[in-house]
Amino acid sequence: MYFVANWKMFGNLKSINTLDKVIKFSKSKEIKKGRLIYCPPYTLITSFFKKFENCLIDIGGQNCHESDDYGAHTGFINSRMLKSIGANYVILGHSENRIKGETDKLINLKIRSAIKAKLKVIFCIGETLKEKNSGKTNSILSKQIKFGLDKVKKKSNIFIAYEPVWSIGTGKIPKSKELQQTVEFIKKKFKGKLPKILYGGSVNPKNINDLTKIISLDGFLIGGASQSSKKFIDIVKKTFN
Ligand code: PGA
Repeated sequence: MYFVANWKMFGNLKSINTLDKVIKFSKSKEIKKGRLIYCPPYTLITSFFKKFENCLIDIGGQNCHESDDYGAHTGFINSRMLKSIGANYVILGHSENRIKGETDKLINLKIRSAIKAKLKVIFCIGETLKEKNSGKTNSILSKQIKFGLDKVKKKSNIFIAYEPVWSIGTGKIPKSKELQQTVEFIKKKFKGKLPKILYGGSVNPKNINDLTKIISLDGFLIGGASQSSKKFIDIVKKTFN
């Protein structure tokens, strides 16, 4: 099971001290089959990487530019740069970036560039509340998958993170039956080797027991709750209890 901490635009150098608990936990038996991945802001990737030197916690970026070449793109970084500082993962297609104009086409270019740089991609998909209420969830997810993964042949480095937009940061999660159906629907989109499927959106220690009932999920993408080591650890522990 994968547990991805998405720190978004939070954290500073002092936050690094809060990781001691997680490092200790990651070396204990309690981690069981949990794999931890931290995606801090770019400014902290190197410090996190150094901090995790003697443990198995992995690092990822939260986005990258679509070009795998260096170039005149003020304010951006590319997949190669992420890889070169120790990141093995990158989150792409997050709804907080889609809303700012990231199109399926752009996300596709980013995914292809990340795969080329040998990063594993946490590819976010999800419907808005309006789309859900008008019964469009499946068609939206189909479209995002189809265009996002266009020309991506090898799916083994792709993690699909199903994140309903209405669930992110709201405390609301889908009903178990609905979520199960959606996960099954996503799986049916793939032939042969399936990508791993994560759920994201308001995952916390209180609702994790309900979420772990969803069979065939490979893990969780955790925003707010992941900034607290205690909550993050609790989520992992409860997943295996
Ligand atoms: P949340 O964020 O857990 O705070 O809802 C999840 C995400 O946006 O990845």
